[in-house]
Amino acid sequence: MMNLGVDSNNMRLSVLHTIQEYSHIHFTAEEEFLESSGYPDLKAHKELHEKLIAEMESMERAAARHDFTAVEARPLLGFLKNWWIKHINEEDRLYMAYLKAD
Ligand SMILES: [Fe+2]
Repeated sequence: MMNLGVDSNNMRLSVLHTIQEYSHIHFTAEEEFLESSGYPDLKAHKELHEKLIAEMESMERAAARHDFTAVEARPLLGFLKNWWIKHINEEDRLYMAYLKAD
């Protein structure tokens, strides 16, 4: 009989991994664009990206160590959602203001 718990855990791990990979691609593209635009606070912005990637990798490793239940996954996904919203609304707006002024 199929173990739905493990399959669900694999699915959650897969989603986490996909978000992490997407974030890496998105951040790299954003950093290359900001570098070509001469954004003066690029170093600090890159550090925020690196911090989130490290956080996601840590969560992925923790999730891989045990069955990751839906209850455990909820705060994690909430954290990622809140981080993305905060980053886009606050940190990314700082470089948008710089680019508009240029
Ligand atoms: Fe960013």
